[in-house]
Amino acid sequence: MAEPAPAPTSHFRLFTPTAVPAEPWAGAPWTGVCVLVAEAAAGPLAGELARELALAGARVQALDVVELTGRRTDGTAPVPRQARALTEPTGPRWLVWVSARGGTGQAPLSSSDGARTLAELACLRALVKELAEGWERYGPGGLLLVTAADGRSGGSPAGLDPAGGALAGFARALRDEYPSVATLLVDVGRGPHRSAARRIARMGRPAGGRHALGLSAGGCWTTRLTALPLTDRDQDASTPGLLDALREPGAAILVSGGTTGIVGDALCAAAERLSGPLPGKLVLLERAPHVSQRRRHRPSRPPAARSAPPRLRGMGVTVDHEVIDVCDVRAMRVLGERLGLLGLTVRTVLHGAGSEHPLKLTEKPADAWENTAAARIAGFHNLLDAAGDGLRLAVVYGSGSAGLPGRTDSAAGDAYLATAVARLRAGRRDVTAQCVAWPVRDHPGTDDLPCTQRLESTGPWCLDPDQGARWATAITAQARTLPAHVLLLPVPLTGQAAADCTPVEGGVPWTR
Ligand SMILES: NC(=O)c1ccc[n+]([C@@H]2O[C@H](COP(=O)([O-])OP(=O)(O)OC[C@H]3O[C@@H](n4cnc5c(N)ncnc54)[C@H](OP(=O)(O)O)[C@@H]3O)[C@@H](O)[C@H]2O)c1
Repeated sequence: MAEPAPAPTSHFRLFTPTAVPAEPWAGAPWTGVCVLVAEAAAGPLAGELARELALAGARVQALDVVELTGRRTDGTAPVPRQARALTEPTGPRWLVWVSARGGTGQAPLSSSDGARTLAELACLRALVKELAEGWERYGPGGLLLVTAADGRSGGSPAGLDPAGGALAGFARALRDEYPSVATLLVDVGRGPHRSAARRIARMGRPAGGRHALGLSAGGCWTTRLTALPLTDRDQDASTPGLLDALREPGAAILVSGGTTGIVGDALCAAAERLSGPLPGKLVLLERAPHVSQRRRHRPSRPPAARSAPPRLRGMGVTVDHEVIDVCDVRAMRVLGERLGLLGLTVRTVLHGAGSEHPLKLTEKPADAWENTAAARIAGFHNLLDAAGDGLRLAVVYGSGSAGLPGRTDSAAGDAYLATAVARLRAGRRDVTAQCVAWPVRDHPGTDDLPCTQRLESTGPWCLDPDQGARWATAITAQARTLPAHVLLLPVPLTGQAAADCTPVEGGVPWTR
């Protein structure tokens, strides 16, 4: 009798996005294809693109997203009304979303970036929901998102555009829901609009799947992942840890995201490294208790193991709970002021809040979708604002899972944060900022989803809590030298992750 195959051992490796030269895609002609071109940021590019696509034979309809362009001309309908055309039998199956704003992307990161991006994501979601319903009824088409960073999808500090990052995350997650649809992200850089529009139209419509391309003057770029040499055994005791600020009298650490998942494991692992008096204070931000009750009905781990605060207290950490919604600008500002009046300086923030029940874009209510994106994006800005100038370490935890449908909201938020963290680093040399995308672990809330099968297939590759804690410690310890955005992925990469994440040697890490 044949020996049973050995169970695979979990093994993980750290990666970072890297800009690499690419070829333009060679797509099918636009002839006869009905396309809706939406102008999501006032500027000439949408008009140029509409004209070039029409010249290439497409039947073009134009849409001014008045909520975003700020134009209020008679007869221009808001997005929800215009979106109805997308579910008509002869309506457009292709949407071109043109979000190419001016500016250099080097201004200090501010909460207005977050507010603008959330408004854009809300409008995009409303349109793409109708578009996707059209795909489901009448056959696949495509979504082309056009941004303007540096022509390399953020391959240089000048191209760190969190809003563009959010669109990239949205496109990536949408592909997981509609694999046969073409989702394209094009960064046209700062070159002349007319030539960018012409280059896009000439490439035609690519086949289904995800395509990301930067169009710089020097050629085309795309993003791949580069493996980093760090392992979970790299535990450098001499370098700062997540909770080291607790040693400082008058220091506070703000943490969002509960303590039942990776956040709790990382905190406990960091507390274990501490010794001596810990005069600082750890402030855990949690939402209204009734929502937490709901989550307790889907426990993923035994209750004793999930309870981080008692463990932290047992290790000498002073833990405070604040019942607060991290999206609540006013409440978060008041919190920051209150901490200041108590003589506390926020030295560290850890942002993990916002993972939610995954649900397909067409099935998730608009407010739930927008709330998830807001918890990631607005929550981060509110944490930074509450912390103020005393901040020295900012850590963001998100998800790097590819191939799991139902995550367009959190993926857009995560990708925004990855770029925002890099921009924070570039703008504030006194702050060590790190964004970590975690793999699937014993993730709660996915049992009743159509993606269960995919989850099961990745089961052996789930990150166990102890390993997660080790990785969290190793990554924070090296945060000053690692690129700002790192992804922990199970290796060897398989399936969609392997296709998306072909490791390359010698690329340019874009969030150094
Ligand atoms: N399994 C893992 O550990 C894992 C794997 C991959 C990625 N990640 C990512 O890492 C991050 C942290 O995950 P986790 O597993 O530690 O946490 P989690 O168990 O997913 O919990 C997320 C927490 O965020 C809270 N939250 C959501 N919206 C909020 C808001 N507006 N204000 C305040 N709190 C809010 C939730 O509170 P309620 O209880 O009130 O809803 C919950 O406690 C997430 O972004 C997640 O996607 C985690």
